[in-house]
Amino acid sequence: MVKKVGVAILGLGVVGGGTYQTLVEHHDFYLKTQQVDITVEMVLDRALDRLAQLGVPQEIIAKNIEEVLANPNVDIVIETIGGIGVAKDFVTAALREGKTVVTSNKELICKYSHELERIAKRNHCGLFYEASCVGGVPIIRTLLDGVQANHIQSMMGIVNGTTNYILTKMTYEGADYAEVLKEAQKLGYAEANPTADVEGFDSMYKLSILSSMAFHTKIPYTKIFREGIASVSTKDIAYGRELGYTLKLLAIGKNTEKGVEVRVHPTFIPNSHPLASVNDSFNAVYLRGDAVGDVMLYGRGAGALPTASAVVSDVIYAATHSEIKYSTFKNNATADKSTNFISDFSSAYYIRLSVADETGVLAKISSIFAKCNMSIVEIAQRGKSEVGENGQHRVPLVVITHKTTENRVKNAVAKINATDIGTVNAVIRVEE
Ligand code: HSE
Repeated sequence: MVKKVGVAILGLGVVGGGTYQTLVEHHDFYLKTQQVDITVEMVLDRALDRLAQLGVPQEIIAKNIEEVLANPNVDIVIETIGGIGVAKDFVTAALREGKTVVTSNKELICKYSHELERIAKRNHCGLFYEASCVGGVPIIRTLLDGVQANHIQSMMGIVNGTTNYILTKMTYEGADYAEVLKEAQKLGYAEANPTADVEGFDSMYKLSILSSMAFHTKIPYTKIFREGIASVSTKDIAYGRELGYTLKLLAIGKNTEKGVEVRVHPTFIPNSHPLASVNDSFNAVYLRGDAVGDVMLYGRGAGALPTASAVVSDVIYAATHSEIKYSTFKNNATADKSTNFISDFSSAYYIRLSVADETGVLAKISSIFAKCNMSIVEIAQRGKSEVGENGQHRVPLVVITHKTTENRVKNAVAKINATDIGTVNAVIRVEE
């Protein structure tokens, strides 16, 4: 039997516009394959020229949110506005009205899923957000319905296309960070204000959502260690390549017996790791489950149609499932008391120093690492000796350590910087 479903789209920018286009163009296909007759009953956006450009019929343009919510033919409200201002008010109002919400808004879900889910439960409606994380890559459905048989032990993801595009250019063209950022802005990948992407906030929101679902416990974004790519130098990317590593901005979640570890930072991974070949604006998530082993999902994490693919799949799911699923964990603003977060996490490290080009310096540097209980895998001089400000000859030295902890590294860096024989210029974590 065919199910009739009416939707309203709030915000017809890139994602909302792509969603409108997909729903209209694929209407007959969904009718045939899914037995759902989805009609766009209303749209809400102030940019009337944009609506005209998309070919939206005049009669479905709503004047305000009240008109959308009062429309009995609207069963599902799609929120593609973004941010936590008006989007939060509209989503809250729609749920209160008993309308299922499908959203692409990661910041909203990351910060308020607890509040919104409570309202949804109270009003017996659904809250779906596949499009909030990694655009067209069906990672949320995979976590909920594909790998739910597993204890997910870890996830590593390239979940931001803008930074992956920038790092790819720096890696393969030797381009400078500032130069590529400007190019990415011109191409429309990076926002005029690129902070959310390049400083890792976008990845942090996505990691908070994904790790909460993967580990079945609330992972507030405030628990996530975050470092962006703004201070990454092309020099380090090149030195890393020579040592067999590729640099990626990774969102990492680990769930071990000792506790949960969540972090976003530039990371060296072996060139042979599947994530090392995820380039340009592509995204990927690499999961490890106790039964399934390794699973990797790869695809477009942003853009009109890839993100619309996720939005519409949620609409179809909501339309074809009568049982509403909510989070598998206690969805509170804060983490469960029983969740132990590891802040002094372990990893291997790439450390670049500038050291005095003098006899005995290597031994002194090695002895500082030894005193800090850090074991060295490799130590290599890179580049030529240069004359520093004080006339001292300096040479770049790259050290790869065995697995150690953040605190030990901080301690070693402080000790080296306090000497007059060396300065630490870069510290990059390494995952195998
Ligand atoms: N700004 C994000 C990115 C896309 O560059 O991947 C939306 O999440």
